Amino acid sequence: MIVLGVESSCDETGLALVDTETGLLSHALYSQIAMHQEYGGVVPELASRDHIRRALPLLEQVLREAKIDKSAIDAIAYTQGPGLAGALLVGASVACGLGLALGKPMIPIHHLEGHLLSPLLASKPPKFPFISLLVSGGHTQLMRVEGIGQYTLLGETLDDAAGEAFDKSAKLLGLSYPGGPAISRIAESGDPSVYTLPRPMLHSKDFNFSFSGLKTAVLTVVKNHPGELSEQDKANLARAFVDALVDVIVAKCSSAMRHSGLKRLVIAGGVGANTQLRAGLNAAAAKKRFEVYYPELEFCTDNGAMIAFAGAMRLKADPAQAQCDYAFNV
Ligand code: KG4
Ligand code: ZN
Repeated sequence: MIVLGVESSCDETGLALVDTETGLLSHALYSQIAMHQEYGGVVPELASRDHIRRALPLLEQVLREAKIDKSAIDAIAYTQGPGLAGALLVGASVACGLGLALGKPMIPIHHLEGHLLSPLLASKPPKFPFISLLVSGGHTQLMRVEGIGQYTLLGETLDDAAGEAFDKSAKLLGLSYPGGPAISRIAESGDPSVYTLPRPMLHSKDFNFSFSGLKTAVLTVVKNHPGELSEQDKANLARAFVDALVDVIVAKCSSAMRHSGLKRLVIAGGVGANTQLRAGLNAAAAKKRFEVYYPELEFCTDNGAMIAFAGAMRLKADPAQAQCDYAFNV
């Protein structure tokens, strides 16, 4: 069966086609980052309007690249939430309109399930069960994953998500949106011995996180600094921020691996693209003898392939998942 996926929860319009037997057929993405950059973050109304402009041309593109006609689509998966309401509504309307016109069922997908399953699109996918670390702009969660739809939350952030901490700290340093890649880039030339930032909840005996204090610590350094921060000061502070965040995430992941007795750690979400985090996790995995899996870089941040794939997996596991009613609900 062929499943079309539609993602529009934030500032990326993503469409993709997945065959339940052979995998990804095609995918196309339009990122609105350049449009939002001048505002320092995502403007919801602009995001919704741009999704409207991009969705149908991207649909044509994925059909063309997969060399199929839309009549070959068997079901349409779309991001039901969480996300920006107006942006979600565009994707849901495109998916459900198409479903109703073609007489094909719709599969509403939780955005986080899309991220969580995205590493399974890789050429060497992990086998179930595994521990999942989901680190995105909106969420930071550790989960135990037994199979499709079998997810147990072990812990999550009590305040800011890891990506949010990246974005907010980057703004404090005068870096452009999105802050994750920007901070990571300048941190490469930072001196780690200049600043030491707190590692919130490092020793808490649970799997929860807290990143708002880390962001406030960056703010305190910026405020107390006499005059403007030089480019090297910014790099040093970015390095201290990244080191603190990576230390906490690596420690929590290692602890979750130890407690679960599982041997596979699977990373998902935009922050999973981070070079320093990957290096920290790889080092811990080598030392503690577990394996770590990542999504392809292009599938770390929001994309349609993960939604089409999650829809295909759900359909395969239980064909009754597909619905013919309009199931939009944020
Ligand atoms: O998963 P995603 O595309 O959207 C959400 O569902 O939230 O994640 C976006 C987040 C942003 O906060 C962005 O700054 C962060 O992922 N991000 C990164 C990197 N690439 C994206 N953070 C750190 N390093 C990166 N290379
Ligand atoms: Zn996302």
